[in-house]
Amino acid sequence: MSKLRIGIIGLGTVGCGVYKTLQNHENIEIVKIAVKNLNKKRSVEPPSSMLTDNPFEVVNDSSIDVVVELIGGVEPAYSYLEAAIKNGKHIVTANKELLAKRGAEIFKLAEEYNRVILYEAAIAGGIPIIMPIKTILAGNKINKIHAILNGTTNYILTKMDVEGASYEDVLKEAQELGYAETDPTGDVEGFDAAYKITTLATIAFKKKIKLENVYREGITKIRKEDMKEANEFGYKIKLIATASIDENNNADVRVHPMLISKDTTLAHIDYVTNAVELNGFPLGKVVLSGPGAGEFPTASSVVGDVLAIEAEFGKTDYLLPMMRCNHSEVANPIKIEDTYNKYYISITAPNAIGVIAKIGTICANKNISLSSILQRGVSKDNTADITVITEKCQEKLIREAVAELTECRINSIIRVAD
Ligand code: HSE
Repeated sequence: MSKLRIGIIGLGTVGCGVYKTLQNHENIEIVKIAVKNLNKKRSVEPPSSMLTDNPFEVVNDSSIDVVVELIGGVEPAYSYLEAAIKNGKHIVTANKELLAKRGAEIFKLAEEYNRVILYEAAIAGGIPIIMPIKTILAGNKINKIHAILNGTTNYILTKMDVEGASYEDVLKEAQELGYAETDPTGDVEGFDAAYKITTLATIAFKKKIKLENVYREGITKIRKEDMKEANEFGYKIKLIATASIDENNNADVRVHPMLISKDTTLAHIDYVTNAVELNGFPLGKVVLSGPGAGEFPTASSVVGDVLAIEAEFGKTDYLLPMMRCNHSEVANPIKIEDTYNKYYISITAPNAIGVIAKIGTICANKNISLSSILQRGVSKDNTADITVITEKCQEKLIREAVAELTECRINSIIRVAD
């Protein structure tokens, strides 16, 4: 039996993991690997004849069946994949940014050329989620997702919670240990999770979600005091990627910190672990959790995709029909101002008679019902820290109410999960 011939673009951490893992799969032959630096020392040493510093030598090699793209970023990755598809190759990629920003284009091209793009590794690393949604969960109508899709931010928030430390201190330590990047923006500002939920929600809802309609807030403003207070009220704070869709095709997709009840599974997903909770009919709720990044977990997903192609390669003209991504209908976006949420609000108020009454009146005038309100004494500087948790209300009204609290300092406003 002939082997499936693959070319790899990128031999970084994940690429090395894929190379090592594929040594155990004799039906797969790695033909060529494009690297940036031919002389770099790596944890694997492929024969030098296999290496090239020109990715077009991979995508233009007529003997290669599948191109595995592991460099990330939109360009030049997009150009390599475009050329590869036009040259008749199937694609396996871990590139969440490319899928979120130019997925519609690249999937359309793949359809035209009757080729598949598989991307299990792009969403939640090693957790099997895309393939299960497309196969064994295909009979479900999924209408809600809650997920922890970024390990770096989950690590930082977990450390802040466990150690009572500040965001800045934990980030610095995480960078020193190599858990956070030198420029952590992509992770801590929620971009990485936003890319992932864009594609995940598109697949789960079978409707196109556009990245520009995904609301995004990072974790940089979370204070250690918020962590402590959230705990006292029975919550943890997590960076949650959430998506829901109603029967009229209106989709609410966002990434932001959330207080989530300690009674939920997601509240106990700690450090770099990721988790995805899907709600659908007829299944109900299912939670998948596991390693969202790293050499071998990500390689597991990449190699799984390669083997899925290998299983059908040469047997049919129309490879893996369930794996295609050709949703033509675009979901209607719901603006964040129009969404309904519960809110945790931390306020520092002057110690004056009637302050709590005023907070209550402003909320009442906006039809905002309060679930909890707590003040623990008065500080030496004659101010009082007040924590408010509201019932569900419209975001627009909360913003208006907070703007009216002119004599108070608003320390934090964090949405609270249902
Ligand atoms: N930077 C990501 C994370 C992993 O921290 O989870 C790759 O998507």
